[in-house]
Amino acid sequence: VFEVKIASTGQVIKIPGDRSVTAALEEAGVKVPTSCEQGACGTCKVKVLAGEVDHRDKRLKPAEKEEGWFLACVSRAKGDQLVLDL
Ligand code: FES
Repeated sequence: VFEVKIASTGQVIKIPGDRSVTAALEEAGVKVPTSCEQGACGTCKVKVLAGEVDHRDKRLKPAEKEEGWFLACVSRAKGDQLVLDL
């Protein structure tokens, strides 16, 4: 379990181990567009402002990861919290 914080509203949402970030956000009323839900298409790309990402996608280039992007349908956090630019 880890948390994501929505930078624009301050809302904090728990992400259980059996839920993707996009699924847990949607349940909390925060819609992130998705398509493949497998880390391949890039539709769900979100910028991470703080926290360490556990990248699990097959799409992002190293430079994009360095810029803070992550694919919210598959990737997770290494630590306790990610702050998302939403
Ligand atoms: Fe396709 Fe996340 S929805 S990469």
